[in-house]
Amino acid sequence: MNDLEMYREQLAMCDDKMIDALIERNALIEKIVSYKKKYGLPILQPVQEKKQEQRREERLREQRYRDEMEDVFQRIVRNGKRVQAHQLFNYNIVLIGFMGVGKSTVSDYLSTMFAMKVVEMDQVIAEREAMCIPDIFAVYGEAYFRDKETALLVELQKEKNVIISCGGGAALRAENVAEMRKNGRVVLLTARPGTIYERVKDSTDRPLLNGNNNEAYIAELMEKRREKYEAAADIVVHTDQKSVLQICEELVRKLTEQERA
Ligand code: S3P
Repeated sequence: MNDLEMYREQLAMCDDKMIDALIERNALIEKIVSYKKKYGLPILQPVQEKKQEQRREERLREQRYRDEMEDVFQRIVRNGKRVQAHQLFNYNIVLIGFMGVGKSTVSDYLSTMFAMKVVEMDQVIAEREAMCIPDIFAVYGEAYFRDKETALLVELQKEKNVIISCGGGAALRAENVAEMRKNGRVVLLTARPGTIYERVKDSTDRPLLNGNNNEAYIAELMEKRREKYEAAADIVVHTDQKSVLQICEELVRKLTEQERA
């Protein structure tokens, strides 16, 4: 064997070691998730995640190929989150609830923590129609928009392990709820009318609140919808006076508890 062949052989062995290390790493991630579930510990631990990241950065600091290695690690960490997400949720997480309740904020946070894909229904419909939501309502009417929501929900049932952030009216049709439930767990987020009003008062992209953007109207519309929202939900999370981390932690805990039951 000449030197070149020997180096190549050593390189292949190096890859083998990395594969073994990754297998071990994924198994450890699974063990950590199982442990947290078993002892009822919070699944999301952003502070611990930060510590791990700092430790790694320190080790890589003096390295000649620091940027390249950091790039690899970011992917490894991301894939670790995927492993965690697959272990926890072999279904879609469907977020429903009134406008301004925090569906988009919660889905963004969950997506960062679990590296899960998010489908923001309003955004997908607006992109496909090449029009903003108020224009779709104005040009084609609400019924047209509602049909687009139903069609999108049907389409999404071929997905697994994605977060679906629904428009506030999506859970009002029984056929939509049936679609959500085929492959998903339905999470209802709630907030008091006053909290909702504070969040949506400057918004212009919610046609149903145009000219009616006040707390009394919000309270009335919420009350009209309440029964349908509650009937659609597998779990409910109240969001008033909670941080997004607290909301997401409660959501994950309730979903995993329900799984066990
Ligand atoms: C609606 C809520 C909106 C959007 C549309 C109708 C509703 O979504 O789908 O304006 O009927 O509650 P958000 O809940 O994301 O604001």
